[in-house]
Amino acid sequence: MTSLQTPAIPEHSLDRDCTTLSRHVLQQLQSFSPEAQDLSAIMNRIALAGKLVARRLSRAGLMADVLGFTGETNIQGESVKKMDVYANDVFISVFKQSGLVCRLASEEMDKPYYIPENCPIGRYTLLYDPIDGSSNVDINLNVGSIFAIRQQKEDDLDGEGNDLLKDGQEQIAAGYIVYGPSTMLVYSIGHGVHSFLLDPSLGEFILAQENIKIPDHGPVYSTNEGNFWQWDDAIRDYTRYVHRHEGYTARYSGALVGDIHRILMQGGVFLYPGTVKKPEGKLRLLYESAPLAFLVEQAGGKASNGMKRILDIVPDKLHARSPLVIGSKEDVSLVESFIQDHQRRANGN
Ligand code: AHG
Ligand code: MN
Ligand code: MN
Repeated sequence: MTSLQTPAIPEHSLDRDCTTLSRHVLQQLQSFSPEAQDLSAIMNRIALAGKLVARRLSRAGLMADVLGFTGETNIQGESVKKMDVYANDVFISVFKQSGLVCRLASEEMDKPYYIPENCPIGRYTLLYDPIDGSSNVDINLNVGSIFAIRQQKEDDLDGEGNDLLKDGQEQIAAGYIVYGPSTMLVYSIGHGVHSFLLDPSLGEFILAQENIKIPDHGPVYSTNEGNFWQWDDAIRDYTRYVHRHEGYTARYSGALVGDIHRILMQGGVFLYPGTVKKPEGKLRLLYESAPLAFLVEQAGGKASNGMKRILDIVPDKLHARSPLVIGSKEDVSLVESFIQDHQRRANGN
């Protein structure tokens, strides 16, 4: 190359490398308003939490005191893993002194956690599942984090978070981070669903795909069939239907985030129905089902408890659970038709 020739700059890939998460949020909102700046900064902090969790997971087997149980039991009655505690604390730490988030509510804490110094300015609440699928941690398989942001509109005088008992349409942003072969963040602020890949050499989440659309139908059904005899007839009949028809295949990893990520990209349905022992199923509305329902609807899919849209359900307590049927429109509707037919017959109609 002579000194007069301009160097060939790979413009497209440079542009792409510069589309970081915080820039993307501002572009989406087409504004530099204080609210847009807040949301961009909050997403940036969530991304930082994701990087810290990803770093720890990538070294989990090499470091002492990362794997295994703490010996404690959480509010759900489930054994707590060391990674659950670490990731729970990471999300709190990234928001301390941020001025952004006044309160955090998670699967691992009985009551919401307040950061009082942020409260005069940051009327936002982060709801989160710090490690989703934690049984996968010790065997080096995929796990995730789930998050949602809500604006705090009422006072929470007794600190129990009763003002959070509202439907999922109150969410202003939601998403997940999947810690797989690479770390990916998928989010929506109500303007479509977008994914970002963590580039470890940059330490940045870089735009991977914009406006993700879930296919209207897909081959995958994802559920724990070990619960077959714990389910009611409607779900058993649906399962028999997919066994008897061509074109279905089962996939289940034990981590909701990974299973739903597959369905978001390729179509299909994820189900966690009620069981005899747990009529409301296992998944928690405020920080698991509602954020994922927000995302999947934004991608053109559907999320239901079998009878009702997940985003319309008002929880009766912070850690309320709900059956979940989520994914491609047609596949969710098929499951709903089995549930609703059985309901009609039970009602004698
Ligand atoms: P968590 O690790 O946050 O408690 O969530 C685990 C959830 C979800 O990720 C997964 O789909 C489901 O539990 C698996 O439950 P089963 O083992 O009952 O299938
Ligand atoms: Mn979970
Ligand atoms: Mn969890």
